[in-house]
Amino acid sequence: MSTAETNTDTTPGIPEMPEVTQHLVKPNDPVVAKIHSTRICTASRKAAGFVRHIEIDVSGTALENGWVAGQSFGVIPAGETDAGKPHKLRLYSIASPTRGETGDGTILSTTTKRLIDEDWDDHRLRLGTCSNYLCDLQPGEPVYITGPAGKRFVLPSDPAKHDYLFIATGTGIAPFRALTSDLIALGMPSRVDLVMGAPYATDLLYHEQMLGWQNEHANFTYRTAISRHLVEGQSRKLYVQDRLSEDAGELAGMLASDRTLIYICGIAGMEIGIFQTLARMLPPEQLAQYLTLEPDIAGDIDSWERRMIPRAIKPTKRVFLEVY
Ligand code: A2P
Repeated sequence: MSTAETNTDTTPGIPEMPEVTQHLVKPNDPVVAKIHSTRICTASRKAAGFVRHIEIDVSGTALENGWVAGQSFGVIPAGETDAGKPHKLRLYSIASPTRGETGDGTILSTTTKRLIDEDWDDHRLRLGTCSNYLCDLQPGEPVYITGPAGKRFVLPSDPAKHDYLFIATGTGIAPFRALTSDLIALGMPSRVDLVMGAPYATDLLYHEQMLGWQNEHANFTYRTAISRHLVEGQSRKLYVQDRLSEDAGELAGMLASDRTLIYICGIAGMEIGIFQTLARMLPPEQLAQYLTLEPDIAGDIDSWERRMIPRAIKPTKRVFLEVY
């Protein structure tokens, strides 16, 4: 393990990141893996979205023991497009820890939401090619995969030196299931607060597992933000950033600490709302741990826009972003 980049950033608490291996299996030469199991992973079968936890057996391929928590892998759907071309590769976050679902590096998993939409002009059903392909696959069926991909959205070289604020929307929880599992395997040496956003309580993912972890590990806290209806503990509809401000008192010590790293994964656009909320919550010297701002925008948080990231609003090396 070595420092991946030389730092010009002088923010205290910048983590030393490991070198991680990528692209053991390249798109032009995918390996054939096998669906191990597949199950619905929403809190209820009545969820608005169809989301599956899909486990893939990679034993005997170059991907066996070939990824670390936080990385992604590629899937190439079988068949051809309407134009007779091979389907494009699609990346999925790995939801399993570095040692896989069974601890021996043979089973990786992902969290896949069926993309289903109606075209408003011709009122025809539109189905996302790869997500529906993956969700339709049955145990034992083959699947062409590549990877691993991604080198930044991983734990630091010495995970115990840091605490973690993980912020997810929807299937963005996948890498956090992986990273938290790795921390649990290390004896949970860090404080981890996971904030999870979903439209309805029925759409929370791995909800029972998260509640279980919260019961078992005093330093793991699971916070939810439900955006379309009121649930116990919410007097208004919340996005993840609203959960941060609602729980500001409980999070204050953690956010002030030099140990804390913030990881954000999920819907594109969520990061600007989170940054605005942090800017409203934190005194300038604490905010500077996470964001470097152009001086003229600091006083006008309401007018911040996503396009100002990363130039005018620059996350420091203590912030990790994966939005899609
Ligand atoms: P909503 O769709 O009610 O606006 P899913 O992936 O299951 O659809 O969940 C994504 C969650 O993220 C939903 O609760 C969604 O709310 C919420 N969301 C949508 N846009 C943003 C945003 N800009 N910042 C934070 N959360 C968002």
